Amino acid sequence: MGDKLPVTDKQISNSPEDDNDIVDPWTVISKSDAGVDYDKLIKRFGCTYIDSELIERIERISKTPIHPLIKRGIFFSHRDLHALLNMVEAGKKFYLYTGRGPSSDSMHVGHLIPFIVTKWLQEAFDVPLVIQMTDDEKTLWKNLSVEETMKMARENAKDIIALGFDVNKTFIFSNLDYMGRCAAFYQNVIRIQKCVTFNQVKGIFGFCDSDVIGKISFPAIQAAPAFSSTFPFIFGADKVPVLIPCAIDQDPYFRMTRDVSPRLGFIKPALIHSCFFPALQGAKTKMSASDVNSAVFLTDTPKQIKTKINKYAFSGGRSTLEEHRKYGGNIDVDVSYQLLRFFLYDDEKLESIKTAYANGELLSGEMKKIAVETLQPIVADHQTKRKEVTDEILNQFMTPRKLNYDFQTVIY
Ligand code: TYM
Repeated sequence: MGDKLPVTDKQISNSPEDDNDIVDPWTVISKSDAGVDYDKLIKRFGCTYIDSELIERIERISKTPIHPLIKRGIFFSHRDLHALLNMVEAGKKFYLYTGRGPSSDSMHVGHLIPFIVTKWLQEAFDVPLVIQMTDDEKTLWKNLSVEETMKMARENAKDIIALGFDVNKTFIFSNLDYMGRCAAFYQNVIRIQKCVTFNQVKGIFGFCDSDVIGKISFPAIQAAPAFSSTFPFIFGADKVPVLIPCAIDQDPYFRMTRDVSPRLGFIKPALIHSCFFPALQGAKTKMSASDVNSAVFLTDTPKQIKTKINKYAFSGGRSTLEEHRKYGGNIDVDVSYQLLRFFLYDDEKLESIKTAYANGELLSGEMKKIAVETLQPIVADHQTKRKEVTDEILNQFMTPRKLNYDFQTVIY
């Protein structure tokens, strides 16, 4: 199954005149209040739904109950996960690769989603993990200097470490730093750049003639960590398969990566995609660090969380109390309920909240209160854990070194 590189933007179109949602690494805009039409997107991108059979297989092989974010369909799509599991069953190891584009001092709660599932996958399969901080990407795309994004990369890496990643199994790197330290990284970037034409990246990413040349060549830098030879101190000479957890906005990078993989002598990376945590204003767009009012940040105080949710969280409630009691609220568009789907892991409680809202027993204000009370302790706990991440700990994570795995013994 090949993911042919689109050579014109007709194949995976984001043009405003078609009725498709816009989903790319920089923009998520849906035509509907209920958010992105993932059925359509999955067809357009050519990926596959995560079904119950795949979930059972993950549980069986990892001997671990599935994470709620996968069980609830928030991680809903994949590429080649069955092929990866076949290799695991045959006794082979893989590694995980994910990342963050540091465009703000603080991450928002939506950014946690891929990292939470990455941590679960790392523990369930006991595999090494590399995390790319694309400070170069954010310098190129935003009005930020090299120095600013490098500083943000370190700040954001502390937030990621605070989730509890194991330093013996995890390597975090800033592109602007690591590229100068590791020739193997740059060599792979060049190998990839040699395989992809300007026409092809125009088709995939919508670049145009007036874009700076750094943007045009950047996708190769996000692709390179999907090849284990980018990390010789971890993997030696072994060609180790990779699984990439991310939200589906990052898929264009990895469609390109998958297409060049055979030419670099690697098998295609497997992917597992999440849907988007909505902006507080509604699911038409994703929660984004560029719009402070759209997001609950990991630095927000309990009071800020309460104010933001009460003021901005789009409600699926009816316009009058009588109507709400009679017809019930719309959970599909209610951002506070959506927030609970991502962060309240008690299935029974979530189900009873859903039912009570849908049949009008629970009011919008009450739903918001539950969302506030769910998020406040999660963010406060995160802040406590983040304070424990010293510069010394951060430097350990960001030092190229051998991890606690012996890859020379892995047969590929
Ligand atoms: P970035 O910083 O935009 O986002 C970091 C990760 O969070 C996901 N994400 C979201 N997930 C759920 N709801 C949201 N509202 C939301 N917003 C963002 C992103 O999909 C991503 O997984 N170029 C990348 C950094 C990167 C990367 C990678 C990401 C480099 N290599 C490999 C994933 C895998 C970026 O700017 O992510």
